Amino acid sequence: MRGAGQPHRIAVVPGDGIGVEVTREALKVLDALKDIHGLKLTVDEFDFGAERYLRTGEALPPGMMDRFRGYDALFMGAFGDPRIPDMRHAAEILLGARFQLDLWANQRPVRCLADRLCPLKDRPASDVDFVVFRENTEGLYVGMGGFFKKGTADEIAIQEDVNTRKGVERVIRHAFRYAEASERQSVTMSDKSNVLRYGHDLWQRVFHEMAAEFPKIEARHLFVDALAMQMIKDPSQFDVIVTCNMFGDIVTDLGAALQGGLGMAASGNINPDGTALFEPVHGSAPKYAGLDVANPFGAILTAQMMLEWLGETGPAAAVERAVGEAIAAGRCTRDLGGALGTREAGDGIAAAIRRKGA
Ligand code: NAD
Ligand code: IPM
Ligand code: MN
Repeated sequence: MRGAGQPHRIAVVPGDGIGVEVTREALKVLDALKDIHGLKLTVDEFDFGAERYLRTGEALPPGMMDRFRGYDALFMGAFGDPRIPDMRHAAEILLGARFQLDLWANQRPVRCLADRLCPLKDRPASDVDFVVFRENTEGLYVGMGGFFKKGTADEIAIQEDVNTRKGVERVIRHAFRYAEASERQSVTMSDKSNVLRYGHDLWQRVFHEMAAEFPKIEARHLFVDALAMQMIKDPSQFDVIVTCNMFGDIVTDLGAALQGGLGMAASGNINPDGTALFEPVHGSAPKYAGLDVANPFGAILTAQMMLEWLGETGPAAAVERAVGEAIAAGRCTRDLGGALGTREAGDGIAAAIRRKGA
């Protein structure tokens, strides 16, 4: 159930590589909140990921998506394993959930929590504070296309970019509604309508209609190449960005760099009328797997987003405070300039929550 103080049931899939390590720390923090803030949370953990896929040939057991539907929220770590170069298992589990559960709004906050984490010269952390809404069920991700004469010199590879009126409209409207509710001034829609004259012409037309529905919000447009440049030149100009699936994937890794690195970036795949899946923006970082060096704060801040979605704003605020204080005190992993391992960094957040009390 959603709502403060209600019992919540969540499904957790740690996945592969550092996904397993950072999820362990996020769960540790949720445990502290259960003990101290009286959070009522039941966690069912599943071992879906590369190992199980390689062992059984099956990424998810039959009927699993329907089981996922029954949870108040899902939490996943990351997927990706060098032994599965085509990411078949991730396509079924992660993209499968996004598509089959119709999690059409991928909300990715880009917020820098400390001046020293901001990579831009002479820019304070407060200049980096915006939210990206990435369309999450269409575009180049639908997997439509095919090969012709594969493996020959005449090979043709086609990958379709699908943009539907319904899909474009709902995510752009959602971005405006979010801006309105969170008292943000502007929504920037980013596309490549100067070249993609069909798909992104639709984005343009829908954006102008939506802008008229929300006259109090400034409606801005940037082509995606210019957006990438402006994100680095002056990120303070952005409040809310809305864009297509592929561009959203790319600009949120860029956004992560503005936050202090991929280890800091959180995300939620949301169906406002259904369930939601929360996952850090980063991947399984195989070269760091098992070394206790991955930054767990992105996953912990992802748990914080999940708590907000569940209506638990008090516990969510406690997490945010604890992470901010840990960074300020240098109690963090090496990517943030600290000296802690993954476990110690997570222990620190859990301990701070326990120390502070409700
Ligand atoms: P990645 O995000 O796993 O790692 C890129 C680099 O970012 C790392 O080498 C590291 O320097 C840094 N990094 C990422 N997470 C970090 C953390 N928590 N702490 C500290 N540093 C961190 O991206 P990649 O190397 O391109 O991909 C590795 C695998 O993950 C691939 O199989 C890819 O397809 C997959 N992937 C999965 C997801 C997901 O499941 N959500 C997201 C992105 C990539
Ligand atoms: C992300 C990831 C995924 C994506 C991959 C792993 C399918 O990069 O969540 O940002 O491209 O959406
Ligand atoms: Mn990505």
